[in-house]
Amino acid sequence: MPAQPYYRADLARVHHDGFSFHAAKVAPGVLALLEPVRVAGGIVVEFGCGSGLLTRELIAAGHRVVASDASPAMVELARRVAPGAEGYEVLALPDDPLPAADAIVGVGHPISYLPSVEAIRAALAAIGDALRPGGVVAFDVCDHAYGERSLDGLATRGWVADDWALITEFSVPSRDRFVRDMTIFSRNDDGSYRRDFEHHENVLVDVTMIPPLLREHGVDAEVRDAFGIERLPPGLRVIVGRKVA
Ligand SMILES: C[S@@+](CC[C@H](N)C(=O)[O-])C[C@H]1O[C@@H](n2cnc3c(N)ncnc32)[C@H](O)[C@@H]1O
Repeated sequence: MPAQPYYRADLARVHHDGFSFHAAKVAPGVLALLEPVRVAGGIVVEFGCGSGLLTRELIAAGHRVVASDASPAMVELARRVAPGAEGYEVLALPDDPLPAADAIVGVGHPISYLPSVEAIRAALAAIGDALRPGGVVAFDVCDHAYGERSLDGLATRGWVADDWALITEFSVPSRDRFVRDMTIFSRNDDGSYRRDFEHHENVLVDVTMIPPLLREHGVDAEVRDAFGIERLPPGLRVIVGRKVA
Protein backbone atom coordinates (compact mmCIF):
# COMPACT_ATOMS: atom_id res chain seq x y z
CA MET A 1 0.00 0.00 0.00
CA PRO A 2 1.15 3.58 -0.53
CA ALA A 3 1.96 5.56 2.64
CA GLN A 4 -1.58 6.95 2.63
CA PRO A 5 -4.39 4.89 1.13
CA TYR A 6 -5.72 5.82 -2.26
CA TYR A 7 -8.96 7.81 -2.29
CA ARG A 8 -8.85 10.19 0.64
CA ALA A 9 -12.10 12.02 1.41
CA ASP A 10 -12.08 14.56 -1.45
CA LEU A 11 -11.22 12.15 -4.25
CA ALA A 12 -13.60 9.55 -2.78
CA ARG A 13 -16.42 12.06 -3.14
CA VAL A 14 -15.36 13.00 -6.68
CA HIS A 15 -15.31 9.32 -7.59
CA HIS A 16 -18.80 8.88 -6.23
CA ASP A 17 -20.23 11.97 -7.95
CA GLY A 18 -18.47 11.77 -11.26
CA PHE A 19 -17.43 8.19 -11.91
CA SER A 20 -20.42 6.04 -11.11
CA PHE A 21 -20.82 4.92 -14.73
CA HIS A 22 -18.60 1.83 -14.48
CA ALA A 23 -20.43 0.25 -11.53
CA ALA A 24 -23.76 1.05 -13.20
CA LYS A 25 -22.63 -0.57 -16.43
CA VAL A 26 -21.34 -3.81 -14.89
CA ALA A 27 -24.04 -4.29 -12.24
CA PRO A 28 -26.52 -6.25 -14.41
CA GLY A 29 -23.84 -8.76 -15.43
CA VAL A 30 -22.56 -9.14 -11.87
CA LEU A 31 -26.09 -9.66 -10.54
CA ALA A 32 -26.74 -12.36 -13.15
CA LEU A 33 -23.53 -14.19 -12.20
CA LEU A 34 -24.42 -14.03 -8.50
CA GLU A 35 -28.06 -15.07 -8.83
CA PRO A 36 -27.48 -18.64 -7.51
CA VAL A 37 -25.72 -17.15 -4.48
CA ARG A 38 -28.67 -14.86 -3.78
CA VAL A 39 -31.14 -17.73 -4.06
CA ALA A 40 -29.06 -19.77 -1.58
CA GLY A 41 -28.82 -16.83 0.84
CA GLY A 42 -25.03 -16.82 0.60
CA ILE A 43 -22.63 -14.10 1.74
CA VAL A 44 -21.09 -11.83 -0.91
CA VAL A 45 -17.81 -10.18 0.04
CA GLU A 46 -17.12 -7.15 -2.11
CA PHE A 47 -13.52 -5.91 -2.12
CA GLY A 48 -12.66 -2.41 -3.34
CA CYS A 49 -16.33 -1.48 -2.91
CA GLY A 50 -15.48 2.21 -3.16
CA SER A 51 -18.42 4.45 -2.33
CA GLY A 52 -20.88 1.55 -2.47
CA LEU A 53 -22.18 1.97 -6.02
CA LEU A 54 -22.28 -1.77 -6.76
CA THR A 55 -22.94 -2.58 -3.10
CA ARG A 56 -26.28 -0.79 -3.19
CA GLU A 57 -27.32 -2.71 -6.32
CA LEU A 58 -26.40 -5.99 -4.64
CA ILE A 59 -28.38 -5.11 -1.51
CA ALA A 60 -31.36 -3.91 -3.55
CA ALA A 61 -31.37 -7.26 -5.34
CA GLY A 62 -31.57 -9.10 -2.00
CA HIS A 63 -27.95 -10.08 -1.45
CA ARG A 64 -26.25 -10.35 1.95
CA VAL A 65 -23.12 -8.26 1.45
CA VAL A 66 -19.96 -7.49 3.37
CA ALA A 67 -18.63 -4.31 1.76
CA SER A 68 -14.90 -3.64 2.08
CA ASP A 69 -12.30 -1.23 0.79
CA ALA A 70 -8.75 -0.16 1.66
CA SER A 71 -9.81 3.48 1.89
CA PRO A 72 -11.49 4.49 5.17
CA ALA A 73 -13.11 7.46 3.36
CA MET A 74 -14.63 5.13 0.78
CA VAL A 75 -15.96 2.75 3.45
CA GLU A 76 -17.54 5.72 5.23
CA LEU A 77 -19.26 6.76 2.00
CA ALA A 78 -20.40 3.19 1.32
CA ARG A 79 -22.11 3.06 4.74
CA ARG A 80 -24.25 6.02 3.69
CA VAL A 81 -24.75 5.16 0.01
CA ALA A 82 -25.50 1.48 0.56
CA PRO A 83 -27.12 0.98 3.96
CA GLY A 84 -28.23 -2.52 4.90
CA ALA A 85 -25.03 -4.49 4.33
CA GLU A 86 -24.08 -7.24 6.78
CA GLY A 87 -20.83 -5.39 7.40
CA TYR A 88 -18.54 -2.56 6.27
CA GLU A 89 -14.82 -3.17 6.64
CA VAL A 90 -11.63 -1.29 5.97
CA LEU A 91 -9.81 -4.15 4.30
CA ALA A 92 -6.63 -3.77 2.27
CA LEU A 93 -5.64 -6.66 0.03
CA PRO A 94 -3.52 -8.69 0.13
CA ASP A 95 -2.66 -8.63 3.84
CA ASP A 96 -5.96 -8.09 5.66
CA PRO A 97 -7.87 -11.36 6.01
CA LEU A 98 -10.92 -11.79 3.79
CA PRO A 99 -14.02 -13.19 5.51
CA ALA A 100 -15.21 -16.60 4.27
CA ALA A 101 -17.67 -16.05 1.42
CA ASP A 102 -20.03 -17.65 -1.06
CA ALA A 103 -19.11 -14.99 -3.58
CA ILE A 104 -16.22 -12.54 -3.84
CA VAL A 105 -16.55 -9.60 -6.22
CA GLY A 106 -14.64 -6.44 -7.07
CA VAL A 107 -15.32 -3.94 -9.88
CA GLY A 108 -13.43 -0.88 -11.06
CA HIS A 109 -10.21 -2.97 -11.05
CA PRO A 110 -9.41 -2.67 -7.32
CA ILE A 111 -6.93 -5.53 -7.63
CA SER A 112 -4.88 -3.47 -10.10
CA TYR A 113 -4.20 -0.94 -7.31
CA LEU A 114 -2.00 -3.41 -5.46
CA PRO A 115 1.66 -2.38 -5.52
CA SER A 116 3.19 -5.33 -7.42
CA VAL A 117 2.47 -8.56 -9.30
CA GLU A 118 3.54 -10.42 -6.16
CA ALA A 119 0.90 -8.57 -4.13
CA ILE A 120 -1.70 -9.38 -6.80
CA ARG A 121 -0.71 -13.06 -6.65
CA ALA A 122 -1.04 -13.02 -2.86
CA ALA A 123 -4.48 -11.37 -3.11
CA LEU A 124 -5.66 -13.96 -5.64
CA ALA A 125 -4.53 -16.75 -3.32
CA ALA A 126 -6.40 -15.13 -0.42
CA ILE A 127 -9.53 -14.80 -2.58
CA GLY A 128 -9.35 -18.46 -3.63
CA ASP A 129 -8.86 -19.60 -0.04
CA ALA A 130 -11.70 -17.44 1.36
CA LEU A 131 -14.23 -18.78 -1.14
CA ARG A 132 -16.47 -21.59 0.13
CA PRO A 133 -17.02 -24.69 -2.06
CA GLY A 134 -19.41 -23.83 -4.90
CA GLY A 135 -18.68 -20.14 -4.40
CA VAL A 136 -18.39 -17.62 -7.24
CA VAL A 137 -15.61 -15.12 -7.87
CA ALA A 138 -15.95 -12.23 -10.33
CA PHE A 139 -13.74 -9.18 -10.72
CA ASP A 140 -12.23 -6.93 -13.36
CA VAL A 141 -8.51 -6.34 -13.73
CA CYS A 142 -6.18 -4.37 -16.01
CA ASP A 143 -4.21 -6.32 -18.60
CA HIS A 144 -1.07 -4.98 -20.32
CA ALA A 145 -3.35 -3.82 -23.14
CA TYR A 146 -4.86 -1.25 -20.78
CA GLY A 147 -1.59 0.71 -20.97
CA GLU A 148 -1.02 0.09 -24.67
CA ARG A 149 -4.31 1.83 -25.39
CA SER A 150 -3.24 4.91 -23.47
CA LEU A 151 0.14 5.07 -25.18
CA ASP A 152 -1.84 6.25 -28.19
CA GLY A 153 -2.02 9.53 -26.34
CA LEU A 154 -4.30 9.97 -23.37
CA ALA A 155 -4.20 13.73 -22.99
CA THR A 156 -4.45 15.44 -19.63
CA ARG A 157 -8.14 15.67 -18.81
CA GLY A 158 -10.29 17.84 -16.59
CA TRP A 159 -13.73 17.44 -15.08
CA VAL A 160 -15.74 20.26 -13.50
CA ALA A 161 -18.82 19.97 -11.29
CA ASP A 162 -20.68 22.48 -9.13
CA ASP A 163 -18.42 22.11 -6.12
CA TRP A 164 -15.37 20.18 -7.30
CA ALA A 165 -12.93 19.97 -10.15
CA LEU A 166 -10.47 17.25 -11.09
CA ILE A 167 -7.44 17.42 -13.35
CA THR A 168 -5.84 14.10 -14.26
CA GLU A 169 -2.47 13.61 -15.95
CA PHE A 170 -1.89 10.12 -17.34
CA SER A 171 1.36 8.31 -17.98
CA VAL A 172 2.55 4.81 -18.78
CA PRO A 173 6.15 4.74 -17.56
CA SER A 174 6.56 1.04 -18.31
CA ARG A 175 4.56 -1.79 -19.82
CA ASP A 176 3.24 -2.82 -16.40
CA ARG A 177 2.33 0.60 -14.92
CA PHE A 178 -0.61 2.92 -15.57
CA VAL A 179 -0.19 6.15 -13.62
CA ARG A 180 -2.63 8.95 -12.87
CA ASP A 181 -1.60 12.17 -11.15
CA MET A 182 -4.76 13.83 -9.91
CA THR A 183 -5.26 17.34 -8.58
CA ILE A 184 -8.57 17.76 -6.81
CA PHE A 185 -10.25 21.06 -5.95
CA SER A 186 -13.18 20.92 -3.50
CA ARG A 187 -15.37 23.81 -2.37
CA ASN A 188 -15.35 24.67 1.33
CA ASP A 189 -18.47 25.84 3.19
CA ASP A 190 -17.30 29.47 2.92
CA GLY A 191 -17.03 29.26 -0.88
CA SER A 192 -13.24 29.01 -0.98
CA TYR A 193 -11.57 25.96 -2.51
CA ARG A 194 -9.07 23.52 -1.02
CA ARG A 195 -6.65 21.48 -3.08
CA ASP A 196 -5.54 17.85 -2.74
CA PHE A 197 -3.31 15.65 -4.86
CA GLU A 198 -3.22 11.88 -5.35
CA HIS A 199 -0.75 9.78 -7.31
CA HIS A 200 -2.27 6.45 -8.36
CA GLU A 201 -0.31 3.58 -9.83
CA ASN A 202 -2.08 0.62 -11.36
CA VAL A 203 -0.09 -2.56 -11.99
CA LEU A 204 -0.87 -4.10 -15.39
CA VAL A 205 -0.56 -7.86 -15.70
CA ASP A 206 -0.83 -10.62 -18.25
CA VAL A 207 -4.28 -11.73 -17.12
CA THR A 208 -3.81 -15.23 -18.55
CA MET A 209 -1.69 -15.95 -15.44
CA ILE A 210 -4.77 -15.59 -13.22
CA PRO A 211 -6.81 -18.77 -13.95
CA PRO A 212 -3.87 -21.16 -13.30
CA LEU A 213 -3.10 -19.31 -10.08
CA LEU A 214 -6.71 -19.51 -8.87
CA ARG A 215 -6.73 -23.20 -9.85
CA GLU A 216 -4.02 -23.80 -7.23
CA HIS A 217 -6.61 -22.58 -4.69
CA GLY A 218 -9.47 -24.77 -5.90
CA VAL A 219 -11.09 -22.23 -8.25
CA ASP A 220 -11.92 -22.95 -11.91
CA ALA A 221 -11.78 -19.55 -13.58
CA GLU A 222 -11.68 -18.01 -17.03
CA VAL A 223 -10.87 -14.66 -18.58
CA ARG A 224 -13.83 -12.89 -20.19
CA ASP A 225 -14.46 -9.63 -22.04
CA ALA A 226 -17.27 -8.57 -19.70
CA PHE A 227 -19.36 -9.60 -16.68
CA GLY A 228 -22.44 -9.71 -18.89
CA ILE A 229 -23.15 -7.97 -22.18
CA GLU A 230 -21.60 -4.59 -21.31
CA ARG A 231 -18.68 -3.20 -23.29
CA LEU A 232 -15.53 -2.49 -21.28
CA PRO A 233 -12.51 -0.31 -22.13
CA PRO A 234 -9.68 -2.02 -24.05
CA GLY A 235 -7.47 -4.02 -21.69
CA LEU A 236 -9.96 -4.18 -18.84
CA ARG A 237 -10.72 -7.89 -18.54
CA VAL A 238 -13.04 -9.90 -16.32
CA ILE A 239 -12.22 -13.03 -14.34
CA VAL A 240 -15.12 -15.31 -13.47
CA GLY A 241 -14.67 -18.52 -11.54
CA ARG A 242 -16.20 -21.10 -9.26
CA LYS A 243 -14.67 -22.87 -6.30
CA VAL A 244 -14.77 -26.57 -6.96
CA ALA A 245 -12.99 -27.93 -3.91
C1 LIG B 1 -11.64 2.73 -9.20
S1 LIG B 1 -12.13 2.45 -7.55
C2 LIG B 1 -13.59 1.44 -7.80
C3 LIG B 1 -14.56 1.57 -6.68
C4 LIG B 1 -15.91 0.87 -6.86
N1 LIG B 1 -15.76 -0.56 -6.90
C5 LIG B 1 -16.63 1.38 -8.08
O1 LIG B 1 -16.70 0.64 -9.07
O2 LIG B 1 -17.11 2.50 -8.04
C6 LIG B 1 -10.94 1.28 -6.93
C7 LIG B 1 -11.11 0.97 -5.47
O3 LIG B 1 -10.11 0.04 -5.06
C8 LIG B 1 -9.76 0.38 -3.74
N2 LIG B 1 -8.45 -0.20 -3.39
C9 LIG B 1 -7.23 0.28 -3.71
N3 LIG B 1 -6.27 -0.50 -3.18
C10 LIG B 1 -6.90 -1.49 -2.53
C11 LIG B 1 -6.44 -2.60 -1.75
N4 LIG B 1 -5.14 -2.83 -1.57
N5 LIG B 1 -7.37 -3.43 -1.21
C12 LIG B 1 -8.69 -3.21 -1.38
N6 LIG B 1 -9.18 -2.15 -2.09
C13 LIG B 1 -8.30 -1.31 -2.66
C14 LIG B 1 -9.74 1.89 -3.75
O4 LIG B 1 -9.75 2.44 -2.45
C15 LIG B 1 -10.97 2.19 -4.56
O5 LIG B 1 -12.12 2.33 -3.77
